[in-house]
Amino acid sequence: MAQDSREPFHSRSDEVNEFSIPGHPGTRREFIKRIAGTSVAIAIGPNVLTSASVGQPVSSGTTIAVSESVKVNLRINAKKYVLDLDPRVTLLDALRERLQLTGSKKGCDHGQCGACTVLVNGRRINSCLTLAVTHEGDEITTIEGLANDDELHPMQTAFIEHDGFQCGYCTPGQICSAVACVNEGHADSDEDIREWMSGNICRCGAYPNILAAIKQATTKTGT
Ligand code: FES
Ligand code: FES
Repeated sequence: MAQDSREPFHSRSDEVNEFSIPGHPGTRREFIKRIAGTSVAIAIGPNVLTSASVGQPVSSGTTIAVSESVKVNLRINAKKYVLDLDPRVTLLDALRERLQLTGSKKGCDHGQCGACTVLVNGRRINSCLTLAVTHEGDEITTIEGLANDDELHPMQTAFIEHDGFQCGYCTPGQICSAVACVNEGHADSDEDIREWMSGNICRCGAYPNILAAIKQATTKTGT
């Protein structure tokens, strides 16, 4: 028998929406609603989760407070700074985004390229891997603090004289790392320098010139 043409019309999409999803107890419409809700939670999560709420289950209807900032005293390039910071802010982001000390570069943001290298109490660290709040009382030196007024640091001069860079993106990290490498006594041979500078990647491949620069600076500083 022919179907009654007066039956209410159901669009194809309505039919599809009511299909059940294999392995899922609801209809497609319910499934999509849940996925959409989850996506929104993921999108807003990093902005609203407090450190106290990390790892805690969040039930629907729960109000989540915005992370509270903390006051941090930092000493950078012989100057004192007092900052209100989210405790999750890395030292690199504090330097670049709060203090406009943009010499330190963000390459990988995962501790793998060395572009963000700064000196903390004379030791080199990847500033993308450390939280700013953990450095109260430390003496932090960035590339902006290496020169003595108008007089460049010998390592900066050596990099210029030996063309120790091409695009220059890795250069601030290379120079900070090289200063520490020399001070550590790890610049006695080409092999040593290559080994102890291996955490600083140069995508332009300026390694021979960087090596020559470090050797010159080592000689000039008599280290
Ligand atoms: Fe820090 Fe790459 S940006 S190691
Ligand atoms: Fe371009 Fe090193 S000079 S990445």
